[in-house]
Parts: sequence; C-alpha cells; structure tokens
Amino acid sequence: TKVIVVNGPNLGRLGVRQPDVYGRQDLETMRSLCAEWGAALGLEVEVRQTDDEAEIIGWMHQAADEKTPVVMNPAAFTHYSYGLADAAHMVIDEGLPLIEVHISNPSARDEFRKRSVISPVATGTITGMGFYGYKMALDAVAHLIAD
Ligand code: DQA
Repeated sequence: TKVIVVNGPNLGRLGVRQPDVYGRQDLETMRSLCAEWGAALGLEVEVRQTDDEAEIIGWMHQAADEKTPVVMNPAAFTHYSYGLADAAHMVIDEGLPLIEVHISNPSARDEFRKRSVISPVATGTITGMGFYGYKMALDAVAHLIAD
C-alpha cells in the first residue's frame, strides 16, 4: 500500500531551522527513515514537502481520489488553514486514515500553536516525539488499514 507523508511550510528547512525545537536531522533523513519504517510495515512511503497551501490541498484531493492514506505535518497551516482542514476531511470521507504529526509539542509553545484546525478532522494526532512521531503514525496507518 502506498502512503504519502506530507510536510507543510518551512519543513524543507529541517536541520537548520530551530534545531533545539525540531532537531538536527533534515528532510532527506526523514525521507530515508520513513522509507525504511514503511518498508518494514509493507508500506510504500513517499515523503513530500511544500510551502504552498494550494499544492498541499491538491495532494489531499489526489489522496482522496487515489485512496491513499495520509500522514501529515501541516506545520503552520495547522493553526489557520480551513481550506486544508476541508481537504483533509475529503480524505477521511473516503474511509482513509489521515494522521496528523507534529515534531514538537505545539501545546507547550506559543499561544497560537495551541489550536489545530486539523485535529478535529484527523483520525488522530501525534505530537512531541520528534521524527519518531512519523514512525508512530506509519505504524498507526498499517494497523488501521489491516483487515
Ligand atoms: C510543527 C508545529 C507548528 O506549530 C509549526 O508551525 C511548524 C512545525 C511541528 O512539527 O512541531 O512548522 O508542525
């Protein structure tokens, strides 16, 4: 089964962006880790990143049409993009899992990070576990699509 791991704005700068918050590993490292974790679960994982709200919404439409489960770190879009929330809903409406991941624990940070417009739509949310959260999300996808 194919799974997309979708990363939102500024996550292309992982490794150099606030390493104290997001760690020192970059997006390429995430790509290889997710491929490895996915393979062990029988999942074919494609890691994507965009700074563009229209593009990430397009990826949700494509996932809904192609019946592809989604792991998503919506980054700052988490806090204000109703457009992305509506698009995520379309994935859920197809009976597909959509797992929200945050590398940091947004609840422990700025006030504006305490609200997610994606969480009410997502199958579930994993926060504060670093890159390991993506492994947890892939495990959850494998579990949810099995039967
Ligand atoms: C983030 C948390 C968001 O608040 C922030 O805007 C990000 C990354 C995380 O992975 O911890 O860009 O989603």
